[in-house]
This record gives sequence, C-alpha cells and structure tokens, in this order.
Amino acid sequence: MIQPGNGSKYPSHPSKQILITGGAGFIGSHLADALLASGHRVRVLDSLLPPLHPNGRPEYLSGAAELVRGDIRDPKRLREVLPGVDIIFHLAATNGAGQPMDAISRSMSVNAQGTTALLQAMLDFRVTPEKLIVASSMSIYGEGQYVCSVCSRQAFPDIRASAQLQLGRWEVRCADCGGVLMPRPTHEAKPSAIHSIHALSKRDQEDLCLLYGRTSGVPVTALRLFNVYGTRQTLSSPNPSVAALFAARLIRDQAPLVLEDGAQIRDLVSVHDVVRASLLAMERSESDGQVINVGCGIPITIRRIAQILAAALGKKIEPVITQRFRAGDIRHCYADQTKARRLLRYEPRVSHDQGLCELAEWLLQRQSEPQASRDRVPKTPQLQTRVTACSTNGNLMQARLGRLDERWLSEDYAQSWPPETSVQ
Ligand SMILES: NC(=O)c1ccc[n+]([C@@H]2O[C@H](COP(=O)([O-])OP(=O)(O)OC[C@H]3O[C@@H](n4cnc5c(N)ncnc54)[C@H](O)[C@@H]3O)[C@@H](O)[C@H]2O)c1
Ligand SMILES: [Zn+2]
Repeated sequence: MIQPGNGSKYPSHPSKQILITGGAGFIGSHLADALLASGHRVRVLDSLLPPLHPNGRPEYLSGAAELVRGDIRDPKRLREVLPGVDIIFHLAATNGAGQPMDAISRSMSVNAQGTTALLQAMLDFRVTPEKLIVASSMSIYGEGQYVCSVCSRQAFPDIRASAQLQLGRWEVRCADCGGVLMPRPTHEAKPSAIHSIHALSKRDQEDLCLLYGRTSGVPVTALRLFNVYGTRQTLSSPNPSVAALFAARLIRDQAPLVLEDGAQIRDLVSVHDVVRASLLAMERSESDGQVINVGCGIPITIRRIAQILAAALGKKIEPVITQRFRAGDIRHCYADQTKARRLLRYEPRVSHDQGLCELAEWLLQRQSEPQASRDRVPKTPQLQTRVTACSTNGNLMQARLGRLDERWLSEDYAQSWPPETSVQ
C-alpha cells in the first residue's frame, strides 16, 4: 500500500482540532487518515450525499474521526461543528455532472452558497481558525497553457469550437497564425476561463475564501487540484474519474473507450500526493493567501492511462480510439508545480505506474469482498474467478477477482461516460 506520510515531524507537533467539510468523501477520508495518524483530532461535516454514500457512514472513514452528518449550508450544523476548531479543510462540494450547464442550482447552491454559509458562520460565531484550506479545481482554467509551434507566442486559447471537433481536428490552434499550439505547464497566473457551471462554482468557492482571508485576517490557501485518483474513488459520482472507469472496463475484459485520438494530456495526481500537499499547506505559512496548483506535474495522455491500467491488470487489451468527442472538453492541461515546490516544498511521490496499480488492485479486491465490507457496491453472486498480476512498489501481487459488479461495470454505465459525439 502506498503510504501518504508527508515526511513532517508529526506527531511531535501539538495536536490540533481539525474540521474537514466533505470529509467522508474520497479525498477527505484519506486526509482524515493522515491527520489522525499525525496525532490530530478530526471532525467531519458531511451530508453523506445518497448517491455517493448509499449506506450512510462509509466504512472506510476512520472510526477515530468524529462525524457530524449535516449540510454545509445549514447554520445549525455549522454552529455545532465550528467551536474549538483550529484548522478547517473545506472540501464539501458537488463534483460536476459532465455537462457544461447541468445541475446549475445544485453546483451553485452547494459549492458557492455552501462556502458562503461556512464563512458567514465563522464570522457569526467568531471562529478564527489558524488556517482555512479550500479545495479548488483545475477546471477553472478551462484550456491549459500553450505556446505556438509556428509563431512561438504564449497562448491561453479558448475552448475548441464544436465545428472544429466535427472535422476531427483535435489540436488547439493559434488565434494569430493558425499554427498548432503545444501544451505547456499551466501556471496559477493563467487567467481562468469558465466553461461550466461547476467551474464557476469552484471559482466562487476559491474567491470567497481568499477574500474572506484578506478581510478577516484568517490565513487561507486555495489548492487547485488536478485530476485526483486513488482508492475510495467512486463511479457513482456524476463525473467519475477516467482512470477508475477504464479500470472498471478492463476488469470486465472490455477495452477502454478513448475519446478523440487519445493524445489528450491530463495531470493525474494520486490522492496520497494531494493529502501530502494539503498537510504541507496546513503547516507552512508561506502558503497563506496563495492559490497553488496540486498535480503531479508529469503530463500523461488518456491513451497511456488505459495502457498502464491494462498492464497493471495483466490484460492484453488495447484501448479503442473512438475518434468521438465531447463538446466543451479541453485538449491538454497539466500543472506547473513551481509554486507548490517553492511555497509548500511539495514534490509528488507517487508515480503513475504505482498509483494506477494501487487503484487497479483496490478495484479488484472490492469485487471479491463481501457486501458487509463494501459501501458503495451492492453484492452480486460469485460467478467467475480470475487471477491477474499487478505490480505495486515492485512487488508482483496476485489478485483474485470475483463476480464483477453489475452496477459499476455494466455496459450502459461504462459507456455513459462521457456523453459523446461522433466526428461527421
Ligand atoms: N477528485 C478530483 O479529481 C478533484 C479535482 C479537483 C477538485 N476537487 C475538489 O476536492 C474536493 C473533494 O473532492 P472528492 O473527489 O473527495 O469528492 P467526493 O464527492 O468524494 O467528496 C465530497 C464529499 O462532500 C459531501 N457533500 C456534498 N455536498 C455536501 C453538502 N451540501 N454538505 C456537506 N457535505 C456535502 C459528499 O457527501 C462527499 O462525501 C471537492 O471540493 C472537489 O471539488 C476534486
Ligand atoms: Zn502562432
């Protein structure tokens, strides 16, 4: 198992009372584990959103974490959880629906209004934590940062027009000379370009927290998370991770369905590295008032993700390059980690090979677990067993695979991501 340890001097640090909003989720629960392991006390405020948490308190959430079930927008619950809190990690959010204009009121209500409620409650109840860390998102960049291959100009291009994509012309073009734009690491200074309600709500969340910090004196750090992956990730989210979906298809001996030509670049960052960066943001005053990218900084193509997962699962299955597209998708974006390195001393430690293998192992393991030890997947009878090879940290591991879960892995489900359009 990959250890999230941040290399800090914990637990010699004094124990702090930490509040994690959305702490029963994927990232929040890993963060809770690391904070508890460091000797802190963790309180979680989470509404246990039914599609994500069909069985209430998730089993993976440490028993040592105090869970208050409640909505971030509810002042009564906030009044309950805020007293005595030293540090706040604000992670509660809805995570997009894969469609630019879907779920407008839900995103704005939970992400923007929910953040407003949290800050208002801090003000009303005179809670002044030592630090507030908000989980922002790379979605607010829109397209990544580029340089023109012909005229060498730096470019912050707009999202590609559907008319271009219908011609199967995937690369982003220079607005000045028409040359193909080459992706570069995306810096925090790149102007945001909002193309979805989700991105708008995340930017609001970030802006609200930073503004609150400037006016109240509470030190605030906004971490712009890139594409986070790892164990405990759910496919029940409206916008599930591409790595988990590919792995789910591969486990079922189905080829991952890759949009466009598969050369799109993303920044896939292990949840363990995100936790490490979060702890560093908590500890280091250099990050006060700052917006900081948290990625792995190593670009990876969508096609490569599918190939690494296939190798990890011991499957000789190549991805299907569909040459289809989803309107509004970005072409390339990966993190410039200079600021994270400078202010947080953050260095990602989990390689794609290691992290994707851990994800694949976990998905396999879940298939053979009884219902009692799962939270998000219904039990299905044992139909078949396979032995696959997966290498984590250099150790070859044999994993036994039980009957594949129908809901997670059904053809409909796997194909429902992403809603796509074919090239005319
Ligand atoms: N996972 C990623 O790739 C990624 C990328 C960029 C940013 N982020 C941000 O990181 C944070 C955590 O993401 P995650 O992937 O762990 O998501 P997640 O969906 O697993 O966890 C979010 C948690 O928030 C809770 N929640 C939702 N609405 C709530 C409300 N109204 N009140 C209280 N709790 C509520 C949910 O029940 C869930 O447990 C989010 O703010 C997300 O926008 C995640
Ligand atoms: Zn040019």
